[in-house]
Amino acid sequence: MKKQLFIKTFGCQMNEYDTQKIVDVIDSNESVSLVDSPETADLIILNTCSIREKAEVKVYSDLGRYRKLKENNPNIRIAVGGCVASQEGENIIKKAPYVDLVFGPQTLHRLPTLLKRREAEGTPQIDINFPEIEKFDHLPVSKFRGPSATVSIMEGCSKYCSFCVVPYTRGEEISRPLNDILKEIIELTQLGVKEIILLGQNVNAYRGLISNESICDFSMLLEYVAEIEEIQRIRFTTSHPNEMTEDLIACFKKIDKLSKQFHLPIQSGSDRVLSSMKRNYTVLEYKSIIRKLKKACPDISITSDFIIGFPNETKDEFEQTKKLMKEINFDYSFSFLYSPRPGTPAAFIEDNISKKEKERRLKEFQKINVTQGKVHTLKMIGTTQRILIDQPSKRKEGVYLGKTDNNRVVEIQGGPELLNKFVTIKITNITEKNLEGVEIK
Ligand code: SAH
Ligand code: F3S
Repeated sequence: MKKQLFIKTFGCQMNEYDTQKIVDVIDSNESVSLVDSPETADLIILNTCSIREKAEVKVYSDLGRYRKLKENNPNIRIAVGGCVASQEGENIIKKAPYVDLVFGPQTLHRLPTLLKRREAEGTPQIDINFPEIEKFDHLPVSKFRGPSATVSIMEGCSKYCSFCVVPYTRGEEISRPLNDILKEIIELTQLGVKEIILLGQNVNAYRGLISNESICDFSMLLEYVAEIEEIQRIRFTTSHPNEMTEDLIACFKKIDKLSKQFHLPIQSGSDRVLSSMKRNYTVLEYKSIIRKLKKACPDISITSDFIIGFPNETKDEFEQTKKLMKEINFDYSFSFLYSPRPGTPAAFIEDNISKKEKERRLKEFQKINVTQGKVHTLKMIGTTQRILIDQPSKRKEGVYLGKTDNNRVVEIQGGPELLNKFVTIKITNITEKNLEGVEIK
């Protein structure tokens, strides 16, 4: 009988990508079927996230539930991967001795070997090394999971923002060679993929080898990907303000396939806070990038990440962040309550702001975010958009759903022939949840 695999993913798109690869790696070794509840699984995998405390706490509470399952059936295997695994290592086994495997984001390709070793030796196995880019050389061919696919182009981060665990859990920035990325994308197009989302902690820090030993930067990579005929739209996430180049900004003028959307985390509207976060740019510098982006592509949608309640953030500094949010007129963005992470420099700063005040600020900020996002949505009525249709509506018969460049879901009437196609539409209306559109022929 096929092994039953339950896998739960926490956190970012990189983790979603890694989860797909984990499934492919295990499946290419011994065929498995995915199940959607841990109760029926032989192998339970948690692909964890440690970016904020909440995500980490959830991992241990889930593990507590799996312990009971294992008490009833000792043949169940439990594996913990991702950033909590990377950060905690053997502490996981100390806290939860019933866990069988601990593996990091860079060692997921070794899972079949680790599983075999677990059976042979009868003891928990831990492998959380950073073996450079080895992982990608050992991954099986991708599977078709819809017309839009993610491709990792670089791993890790070397920016060491004072609040962030990523450089410690995923290692320093390493870029995949250009040809490997292009090969993966071409294989995906052969399966029917039409949209590519390039992934990395800092995609615009990409510096990949070209076969003749020269280096390809991110803007060049975009041009190469755009040359692949079957790829009709290119997205990427996430970028860092300090890795912006004129060439990258010019891509929004030159490459029509590029989604007119840019996610550029700013974190705060105060220069003092930015400096304490070690972001290495000022608000003015950030605004100048946005000005250039809007000049190159006037209808570009800009989104960002914000941390609210960084240690000692004053009321005035919070006001500056609010002001910036409105001034740049960001589309739907992400905002998080600052979460002290063990081992990061910011965790050592003595903080004089209460949790209650921070939560109040976050709530106020998120309200502005939603209001602003809604205004952007309203403005879309009457505009022409391209959408990639990827599923039928579950609630309405004869209706299909597709996503615009700025990630709005649009409902369009039609039949199954629309599925997996790009369609140019005009937005006609807003429904309770989505937008409605009609095809322009
Ligand atoms: N370069 C990556 C950053 C990953 S973390 C990217 O942009 O996707 C994603 C976001 O989580 C960051 O931009 C930041 O806003 C938030 N974040 C990171 N560490 C945090 C912490 N300790 N507390 C609260 N939010 C944090
Ligand atoms: Fe984290 Fe800063 Fe890198 S937020 S991922 S250290 S750019």
